Amino acid sequence: MKKHRLVSLPNLKEAAGRNLSKPIDYTKVNLQASSFLSSWGAGKTFCIKTYGCQANVRDSEIIKSLLLSIGMVEQDDFLGASLILFNTCAVRENAENHLYGELGRAKENYDKNHDCIIGICGCVMQEEFAVKHVLKHFPFVSMIFGTNNITSFLSLLNDVVQYNQSIVDVRSNSDLVPEGFPEDRTGRSSSITAFVNIMYGCNKFCTYCIVPYTRGRERSRKEENIIAEVKCLKEQGYKQVTLLGQNVDAYGKDFGDEYAFAGLLEKVAQTGIERVRFVTPYPSDFKTEVFDVMAKYDNIMPYLHLPVQSGSDAILKKMNRRYTREQYLSIVHELRRRLPDVFLSTDIIVGFPNESDQDFEDTLSLVKEVSYDAAFTFIYSPRPGTPAARMEDKVSMETKHERFDRLKALIDECAQKRADAYIGKTVEVLFEKVSDKDKTRISGYDRHNKLVHVKGDSSLIGTIRKVKVTESHLYSLIGELLDD
Ligand code: SAH
Ligand code: SF4
Ligand code: F3S
Repeated sequence: MKKHRLVSLPNLKEAAGRNLSKPIDYTKVNLQASSFLSSWGAGKTFCIKTYGCQANVRDSEIIKSLLLSIGMVEQDDFLGASLILFNTCAVRENAENHLYGELGRAKENYDKNHDCIIGICGCVMQEEFAVKHVLKHFPFVSMIFGTNNITSFLSLLNDVVQYNQSIVDVRSNSDLVPEGFPEDRTGRSSSITAFVNIMYGCNKFCTYCIVPYTRGRERSRKEENIIAEVKCLKEQGYKQVTLLGQNVDAYGKDFGDEYAFAGLLEKVAQTGIERVRFVTPYPSDFKTEVFDVMAKYDNIMPYLHLPVQSGSDAILKKMNRRYTREQYLSIVHELRRRLPDVFLSTDIIVGFPNESDQDFEDTLSLVKEVSYDAAFTFIYSPRPGTPAARMEDKVSMETKHERFDRLKALIDECAQKRADAYIGKTVEVLFEKVSDKDKTRISGYDRHNKLVHVKGDSSLIGTIRKVKVTESHLYSLIGELLDD
C-alpha cells in the first residue's frame, strides 16, 4: 500500500476560528483539466455516493460536472467503477458509521482492481480523528479532500493518477467564495430544478452541531453572481431554483447588510423563473421584509422550513439557539398572518443532554400549537469537538427512544390531518420524474412542496400542471390531471 502524501490535515478548531478581518477571496476558479487527465478519463466510469444536506448534493453536482468534462461516464453502483467517491456527512454519528460500512464494500472493488481510485470528501473529512481513522483502517483510500477545496479536485485527481500517489489535502481555513463552477446541473436526474448556493458556512455555533467546524464561517456570494446564475439557469429552461445556505436569512451580514436576504430574494423572483424556494432560514435572523417579499411574488413558493429544535426555553438556551419559544411562535404567527396559505416544516432534536420530561412536554405542546405540515426529528447525537458533547447527560437511551416515538406519532397525526384537508382541492404541480415505486406514475411537487403522484407519461416531466387531489398520504398525495 502506498504511503499517503499529507499536503494538509484538517483541524476543527482552526476551521471554526477563521480570522474574520481577513478579506474574502471571490476569485473565479480555474477548472481546466490537464491534457493528461482528459486522456486518462475518456470512457472511464465513476460513481459518487452523496450523504447529508443540499450543500453536499450541490458539491457532488460540481464534482460530477468536472468528471464529465474529462470524458468520464457516471454509473450508479460501485461495481467495476474506475473512481468511487464518497461525499460524506458528519451531522450525526450514524451518517459517519454508514461511511465505514460502505468503505468495506468499496474495498471489494479495490481488491478486484488495484487501479480503482477510492476517494472521500465532504464534512467527515474535515474532522482530524476521522481522517486518522480512515488512514489506519482503510489505507486503500487514495484521495482525501474537504469541503473547502473541491476547487482543486481535478488537480488532486491528476496527481493521484499521473504520479501514482495517495493524497490527503483537507483545508480548514476557508476565505474562499469560489465562482466559475459549471452552471449546468448535469449530475441531476432532471434539468428542471437547481440548487444555487447563496452563502457558505455558519456562524451560529449551536452547541450540538458540527457544521460550523466542517463548513467554516459564514461568507456570502456576491448578489450579481447569484442573479447571473439564476438567469442562466432560466435561459437553460430550469423551472425552479432553491437558494441554499445554512442560514439563508443571514445572507449579506458579512457585507454588513442585515436586510440583504429580502433584497436578494426579490431580485431572484424578478428574474421571472417559475419557482423560487430557499433553505434553511434561522428563526431569529428573519426580518419581516422577507415575509413581505414572499407575499408579493407569486413565484416565491409559500413554504418555509423553519427549524425549531426544541420547545423548551431551557434547552434552547443550552443549545445556544438565539430565540425563545415565544419569539419562535411569534415569528410563525406573523408569517401566517401575512401568508395564510404558507406550509411549515421544521427540525427537532430529541434527547439533548439532560432534557427533562417537562422540556420534552414543552416540545410536544409547541408542535401541537404550530401544527406543522412536516417535521424531521432526530435523536441527539454527540459530535466530538462540539460543546454539547462535553455536557453531562443522565437521560437514558431508552427514554430518548420513547420520546422520539411519541413525538413522531404526534407529528404524523398533525401532518396527516393537514394532508387530508387537501382532498378535493386543486394544486399546481411541477413534474420532475417517473415515480420510483410505480412506473406508470409521474411525480412532482406542488407549490407547498407536497409530493404529488398522477397517472401519466414522461411528457409531463418539466411541466407545471393543475391536479385534483383524490387521496392523501402522510408523505404524498395522489391526484388526477386536470385539462389546462
Ligand atoms: N442550518 C440548518 C440545518 C443544519 S443540520 C439549521 O440550523 O436549521 C440539519 C439538522 O440536523 C438540524 O436542524 C438539527 O435538527 C439536526 N442536527 C444537527 N446536529 C445534530 C446532532 N448533533 N444530533 C442530532 N441532530 C442534529
Ligand atoms: Fe448547525 Fe446551528 Fe449552524 Fe444550523 S444554525 S448549521 S444547526 S450551528
Ligand atoms: Fe452533513 Fe455537512 Fe450538510 S455535516 S448536514 S453534509 S453541512
